[in-house]
Amino acid sequence: MKNIMIAGAGGYIGTVMVEQFLAAGHSVTGLDRYYFGTDTLGTEIINNQRFTLLKKDIREVTSDDLKGFDVVIDLAGLSNDPTCDLKPNLTYSINFKGGVNLAESAQKAGVSRFIYSSSCSVYGLGASTSLTEASEPNPQSYYAKGKVDVENRLREIADDKFCVTLLRNATVYGLSKRMRFDLVINIMTLKAWKDKRIFVLGGGKQWRPLVHVKDVVKAFELAMNAPQTKVASQVFNVGSNEQNYQVFQIANLVKELLPQTEVIQVPDDPDKRTYNVNFDKIKKELNYQADFNARDGIREIIEALNYGVLDPEDSRTRTIEHYKFLLKVEDTMAELAKNGRIF
Ligand SMILES: NC(=O)c1ccc[n+]([C@@H]2O[C@H](COP(=O)([O-])OP(=O)(O)OC[C@H]3O[C@@H](n4cnc5c(N)ncnc54)[C@H](O)[C@@H]3O)[C@@H](O)[C@H]2O)c1
Repeated sequence: MKNIMIAGAGGYIGTVMVEQFLAAGHSVTGLDRYYFGTDTLGTEIINNQRFTLLKKDIREVTSDDLKGFDVVIDLAGLSNDPTCDLKPNLTYSINFKGGVNLAESAQKAGVSRFIYSSSCSVYGLGASTSLTEASEPNPQSYYAKGKVDVENRLREIADDKFCVTLLRNATVYGLSKRMRFDLVINIMTLKAWKDKRIFVLGGGKQWRPLVHVKDVVKAFELAMNAPQTKVASQVFNVGSNEQNYQVFQIANLVKELLPQTEVIQVPDDPDKRTYNVNFDKIKKELNYQADFNARDGIREIIEALNYGVLDPEDSRTRTIEHYKFLLKVEDTMAELAKNGRIF
């Protein structure tokens, strides 16, 4: 069993990963700024003897925080295009400098394995279909450019004693305790369930590869347990060839399970971000196979909404709205607070 540090443990992927890794018998420390709260972890995890909660910023982590871990996994940071566009300097500071600081601190602490959560969005405007790990990245946003820059820096610092693996996830879907209703399947399912309408933006023909959140965790686990020779300085696309969809096809899948839904094509400029990705490498090298498909994800979200497990009005499920709120709170505090208090 391993001693694992997960940075970004309070997030959409992180909360699912913590749960699965604890269930597998590992010890887990969840480092996060917990911008979405610690309650998303749930009391069972917080009270688990093998779980340690560490409220810390990746920009301030030192090697002392990371001593004794077998693996450090980096899921932390601003996690989508529009949030990263809000304040490019903040994005650079958290996603690039924070990500590099975490890795360098892990290396200094003598941690032997580091896994970075990158994204298929690095391919941006895919010139061809079936993009492989060898295809040239073509990032179209601050978010994706940050991923490419961190990947490059991590490749530079990797050595025999510090094994770095870069996992480029497809767009994730499915249930999480820190639910994200800003991801394509999740938001379309919510809109169809709540409003009986889905708006397709950006033309609808843009390609998006998809992967279930539990299958992302599975890929990290395989990479973590694989022999170093298989994963050192390697990039893997995480997903499956069958789950490359065009956005209008995703809307039709949701309609299939919620037939009263009206799919509305909004007249719009074509979305520049389009990428159809090849997932042969992870299948071949790590024997990876996705256990879930898009219909499973849509079904479980519908069920969770029907049973009140998910609160469709929880503003924390809209990533950018929540960060806008936190930035506003920060401005208000700066203007009104005395000795850290308003009242
Ligand atoms: N969800 C997806 O579709 C997807 C796809 C590809 C890649 N990724 C990447 O996977 C990672 C996790 O994504 P997610 O969907 O769980 O996002 P998320 O926003 O739910 O989680 C990110 C976590 O990072 C924390 N965080 C933010 N800034 C921090 C800081 N300065 N210090 C410490 N913690 C900080 C937040 O509090 C949050 O809990 C991200 O790097 C994201 O870019 C996600």
